[in-house]
Amino acid sequence: MPKNGHDVRDLALAPLGAKRIEWADRQMPVLRLIRERFAKDQPLKGQRLGACLHVTCETANLLRTLKAGGAEVICCASNPLSTQDDVAAALVAEYGIPVYAIHDENRDTYYNHLRATLSQRPTITMDDGADLVSLLHTEFREQAADVRASMEETTTGVIRLRAMQQEGALRIPVVAVNDAQTKHLFDNRYGTGQSTLDGIIRATGVLIAGSVVVVAGFGWCGRGIASRARGLGAEVIVTEVDPIRALEAAMEGFRVMPMIEAAKIGDIFISATGDRSVLGPPHFNLMKDGAILCNAGHFDVEIDIAYLNDSSSRVERNITQNVDAYVLPNRRTIYVLGQGRLVNLACAEGHPAQVMDMSFATQALAARWAALGEPLPVRVHEVPQEIENEVASLKLAAMGIRIDTLTDEQKKYLSSWRTGT
Ligand code: ADE
Repeated sequence: MPKNGHDVRDLALAPLGAKRIEWADRQMPVLRLIRERFAKDQPLKGQRLGACLHVTCETANLLRTLKAGGAEVICCASNPLSTQDDVAAALVAEYGIPVYAIHDENRDTYYNHLRATLSQRPTITMDDGADLVSLLHTEFREQAADVRASMEETTTGVIRLRAMQQEGALRIPVVAVNDAQTKHLFDNRYGTGQSTLDGIIRATGVLIAGSVVVVAGFGWCGRGIASRARGLGAEVIVTEVDPIRALEAAMEGFRVMPMIEAAKIGDIFISATGDRSVLGPPHFNLMKDGAILCNAGHFDVEIDIAYLNDSSSRVERNITQNVDAYVLPNRRTIYVLGQGRLVNLACAEGHPAQVMDMSFATQALAARWAALGEPLPVRVHEVPQEIENEVASLKLAAMGIRIDTLTDEQKKYLSSWRTGT
């Protein structure tokens, strides 16, 4: 079990972590402003906040904000490979926040860290993928009644929570932060778009220009990835199961085809569907020698790694950092990045701070909303529109962008049906 109060790789890394956290903070003006307001207003006073998030510089600035707002904050990782050990150390040593997270921890340690967080009996939880809430509904069931609300950061988590609601299994109110426009339209699209390509380039150093990049899934993440890959000069193929999204991809100028056809021609495969076995045995066997595979979805289920481990004639781990080579029975070699886990966080440092500024500003204001006033009913809630407008307006102001406002005449026109041709 984790040491008392924290479990991080090495507290000596704290000074480096603190510098990087401060650097990220310079790119997060909206969150910084909210932190100043929180410090004055103390909206989270009396709350114990258990956060299960990717332990990055940007998350550190969110946790500082929640603490400034009066919450007692405890944090664990939401993915075994996304923890930045220097950040975890700085949170403990410089910011006094207990953290349970070690980069590349095994499954047992990962879950023990979630248990360590829940055993502090949080009154608000914050999740990225709903692992903490799942554990709260199983091993820690008796504590659910003490949880005022949980915030969910990612698409996969919201899908799991809606499934719990559908089955009547949900026992706490949750706020679908992912579904806020100020989150998914920016973080999922521009954040994942840039950081996924960043992860691939950091791990492999390959030239994207002139390569054939296959993007599985044309949700907000897939759109961002496809657009950024095209921007770097790739020929982009999109695979989809949804006819409307497939049509959108085609009209955006991407080639659209089933994965079984794309498998033969792709140089780089990026899965961003949120579903399992998107890249599996029928595809592996058709791929070119040297094909590169990675996953941009939340869980490591999109590439059938178990099959690759069992059926490859040779597996070479870390042929260069974060790249595993699988020699297939047909003697071709394919490369998997970051063990098939989130490539942007496993092989790079996740989304840039400028976009996490919006996601985490939305998180912080949603936490304030859930903490104040009457407790929310038990179900999945949307983030209130006023919060979205506030975050977008603050971000525009921080970027020095001014926009128009409707005149009274225009407002009247929009609310009437009498004027026509
Ligand atoms: N998810 C994606 N990028 C992230 C980042 N930089 N910090 C926290 N969570 C993230």
